Amino acid sequence: MPVALRSFAKINLGLYIGPPRPDGFHELRTVYQTIALDDTIKVAASSGSGIEIKCKHPQVPTHETNTCWRIADRVLKALKQRRRIVIQIEKKLPVEGGLGAASSNAVATMLALEKELGETLAPDDRLAIASAVGSDLPLFLVGGTVLGLGRGEEVFPLPDLPDAALVIVTPAVGVSTPNAFADWDALARSTPELTGADGNARIVGFSRSMFSWLTGSIAGVPTAGGDRAEKVQRTPLLDLVRAGIENDFERVVFPQYPELREVKRALERQGARYASLSGSGSTLYGVFETSGAAQEAAARMSADGLHAVATSTLSRQEYWNNLVI
Ligand code: C5P
Repeated sequence: MPVALRSFAKINLGLYIGPPRPDGFHELRTVYQTIALDDTIKVAASSGSGIEIKCKHPQVPTHETNTCWRIADRVLKALKQRRRIVIQIEKKLPVEGGLGAASSNAVATMLALEKELGETLAPDDRLAIASAVGSDLPLFLVGGTVLGLGRGEEVFPLPDLPDAALVIVTPAVGVSTPNAFADWDALARSTPELTGADGNARIVGFSRSMFSWLTGSIAGVPTAGGDRAEKVQRTPLLDLVRAGIENDFERVVFPQYPELREVKRALERQGARYASLSGSGSTLYGVFETSGAAQEAAARMSADGLHAVATSTLSRQEYWNNLVI
């Protein structure tokens, strides 16, 4: 029997893009949040050699460019193992959707492969392998609410935000992340106020927005509104708007795909207290007051022809407790 794991998705609660770095990546700041939507990854090892990827989705590569292939190759080398590995990907999450599916699939492959081989990598080896395969992988070694710095690969667990109801809308288009970063650079060059004199204005902006958002949700920190601290503590995800949390990719992705801006507006019309693009898209999410409100909104949006599903955030403990199928 192969080892089967759930590969959960993430959304970004704000994403601020800094200047390009000498290594070609961009400095960024974001808060990742794992959510209760998943793909399934099955990994089987047998005698022989070679890595085979099986996936029915036409857009998922089954060769060495697949993140699952790349991570399996690195894990085998790190563990000094020579085996034949078959990785089966059962796809439910969107490809190029901004939900981190390919990154999550890779981390699930690493964990499943360790289990299948009966060996465990040291935590720092896991982290090094994950960051070498992609900037969005390390967050899936943490789960829950996660601060992302550097090119996104420097991850720090934050106290989990309380459960929140979400609607996830997946438009039919895929957005290329490298292209979206290149478009951001072009926009930043022609919009000096976006970058500031030292190029770091967005990074500073993130710190300010996060400060006003999260201090309100930390017990014991006095806030201007007196008993407001207590109220905010229960619903911090609904307070993203008040703190002005933004995803910079919206500024370059919405003009190219106006239908995505329309989906954001539709989420707001349907009662979302906060709606945003996730990563570079094309997926959008809305945060709702209750799971009932999210379900009704998803049903209405589906009736309008959108691919909308109601789900919820996934805490760190839920993430790890539900990984094994
Ligand atoms: O790390 P990952 O493989 O996901 O990155 C894909 C591409 O996205 C990079 O090659 C780079 O062009 C772009 N990127 C970036 N800055 C980041 C993350 C990704 O420019 N922080």
